[in-house]
Amino acid sequence: FKIDLIVAARPNYMKIGPLYRVLRDADWCRPRLVDAGQHYDPELSSVFREAFGLPEPHAALGVGSGSHAEQTAGVLLAYEARCRCDPPDWIVVAGDVNATLSCALVGARLGISVAHLEAGLRSGDRRMPEEINRVLTDQLASLLWTPSEDADENLRREGIAPQRIECVGNIMIDAFELMRGRIEADGTRAARGLREGAYAVVTLHRPSNVDDPATLRRLVETLCAVADDLPLVFPVHPRTRQQLTVEKLYTRLVAHHGITLLEPLGYVAFMNLVLGARAVITDSGGVQEETTYLGIPCLTLRDSTERPITLIKGTNRLIDPAGLESAMRELARRDGQGAPPLWDGRTAPRVAASLRRHLVQIAE
Ligand code: UD1
Ligand code: UDP
Repeated sequence: FKIDLIVAARPNYMKIGPLYRVLRDADWCRPRLVDAGQHYDPELSSVFREAFGLPEPHAALGVGSGSHAEQTAGVLLAYEARCRCDPPDWIVVAGDVNATLSCALVGARLGISVAHLEAGLRSGDRRMPEEINRVLTDQLASLLWTPSEDADENLRREGIAPQRIECVGNIMIDAFELMRGRIEADGTRAARGLREGAYAVVTLHRPSNVDDPATLRRLVETLCAVADDLPLVFPVHPRTRQQLTVEKLYTRLVAHHGITLLEPLGYVAFMNLVLGARAVITDSGGVQEETTYLGIPCLTLRDSTERPITLIKGTNRLIDPAGLESAMRELARRDGQGAPPLWDGRTAPRVAASLRRHLVQIAE
């Protein structure tokens, strides 16, 4: 059986990486990495491919940057052409980026079964492009692998047949556990003289935070105020770097004694920083989950999350910029309660077993 595993942007690699490794070692299928190319800078793409031991892509669609329509349509055209000349038996899409939806749509149109890894997450906020991608992908896919029970409930509420839903747990935890040894041994923290618990990590890239100049300016001022009390280490996403530069805020951050700006980091280096941090300030989806798993306080600069389990069972808290300084002072009082069920590092084998069951069923 030929299985296309789609990667497109940074957060796809932590999900497809662990699955690829399990399928690679199976004798009943041939996994093929398809890179849609939404992220193409090495620090957002090939460093992750290499970290997770993924091969050169079987197919590279090269969609690149552009508007949502350009990216969605570009992948649609390129992947359809690819599937027509070399069809897979199944397509696995992950997460909620534009290419996730495009590839699911190609599969649905060509009659190729699609499975969605990390299905069922909902923020309820359709201003997020990812929310539209999630809802539509889940309608198109025949098999929905969810990370937690709340996701199953979301899907059932949307009328999706229960037999299409399988709660497999959170594959990002597999990624962390695969890399734990390397993360703990990594020297990124030490090389920067950062003492454990004596700094916070920042990541920002959501359009709602970085695209509007006034919002971005307010955030920058808040980060500067926070950094007066606790050093901040901030690997800057290219979208954010661009906006900071245009608004002349990049130099404001560089000039602040408590703030260290870095290029986007590889997975091992980034998680080495997270592991030693007193807290993480973020608007990332995946980072909310990683911090919950590790019991590290996470302050999420958003007004909703598609991962509410990180609020209920984890260390996550939604805040607006005005509340960031006081939230940083209250960190000690917010402890994690342990990992949610099935966030155990064994999700990839469960996904592989599920895929095999479905393939065999169809073949019979
Ligand atoms: C995308 C995803 C978002 C995900 C994020 C992870 C969508 C709708 N958005 O957002 O869900 O959380 O990736 O990081 O799918 N750029 C580069 N180099 C690259 C790629 C992009 O410099 O390799 C710059 C370009 O100027 C581009 C901008 O970053 O216009 C934004 O990239 P894009 O892929 O459109 O969206 P992200 O903000 O990265
Ligand atoms: N990450 C990384 N280097 C960085 C920032 C994040 O390796 O400089 C990892 C992080 O550990 C998580 C993933 O990238 O596994 C999250 O991706 P991102 O925040 O880009 O996307 P989102 O999860 O918001 O869609």
